Amino acid sequence: SLPVLRTIADLRALVAAWRAEGLTVALVPTMGALHDGHLGLVRRGRELADRVIASVFVNPTQFAPHEDFDRYPRDEAGDSAKLVSAGCHALYAPTVREMYPDGFATAISVGGPSEGLCGTFRPQMFGGVAVVVTKLFLQALPDVAVFGEKDYQQLMVIRRFTRDLDIPVKVEGLPTVREADGLALSSRNAYLSADERARAPELNRALTAAAAALTGGAEVDGVLTAVRGRIAEAGFVSIDYVELRDAETLAPVSRVERPARLLAAAWLGKARLIDNIPVLPG
Ligand code: PAJ
Repeated sequence: SLPVLRTIADLRALVAAWRAEGLTVALVPTMGALHDGHLGLVRRGRELADRVIASVFVNPTQFAPHEDFDRYPRDEAGDSAKLVSAGCHALYAPTVREMYPDGFATAISVGGPSEGLCGTFRPQMFGGVAVVVTKLFLQALPDVAVFGEKDYQQLMVIRRFTRDLDIPVKVEGLPTVREADGLALSSRNAYLSADERARAPELNRALTAAAAALTGGAEVDGVLTAVRGRIAEAGFVSIDYVELRDAETLAPVSRVERPARLLAAAWLGKARLIDNIPVLPG
């Protein structure tokens, strides 16, 4: 079965033993409640390196007090079995105390791609992600770390602080894994009722139709308004944002002249769903 490491010292000892054998290492950071999206990152890690470590840590510093930290789904036994099936070599599952000992007092503030979108609606999130991912990178010192485009803004933020802080880890991004009806796999889909689950794919359908319209030259504001109308109609009670951004810098764009990204976040019942898709110039 899968070795589980609880401490930084044990993680470092394992990685050091692999290094002594000349093996390369991939890291796949997660918050658990694993699904096929996460497992795709593990499989990609196996292609990129000799050994793959997945981390499961529900990171308290990226949740605001009113958010879902306490009810975030946790299932270590299930996660461990899925990781074995995906060919993972070790699970790093530290305690909150191990990651944030008493007196922890350091913050990382990332500008640029953190601004707007989820950065506006979850202002604490990217600072918390930057701290925990930096810690995971420095604890494991992997050759490569694999993340999903499902959290596109997060991926761009991670790329930016890794570059800005000269952290010697290659950041690899993978396309979003979806259900057959287009819904992006997410641990938070567990919050959806059967009725909400039936409505949820409309978010991806609306974005897909909008991306095609934008590539065809449609005017941006009109297309974004149509997406809002369509998902409101489908029962999304509150729309945090629907925006078109530059695919690389995440700067706002009003015409598609280079690769862009259409990103949205909206609430369906208790679940906040996010999704994004590429938009190519026509
Ligand atoms: P979590 O939401 O568990 O996601 C872990 C990784 O899986 C992220 O890189 C995310 O983008 C990717 N992922 C989730 N759903 C996916 C899907 N449907 N297709 C492809 N990839 C998918 O993101 C986090 O955890 C945390 O913020 C973390 C980076 C671990 C820091 O705490």
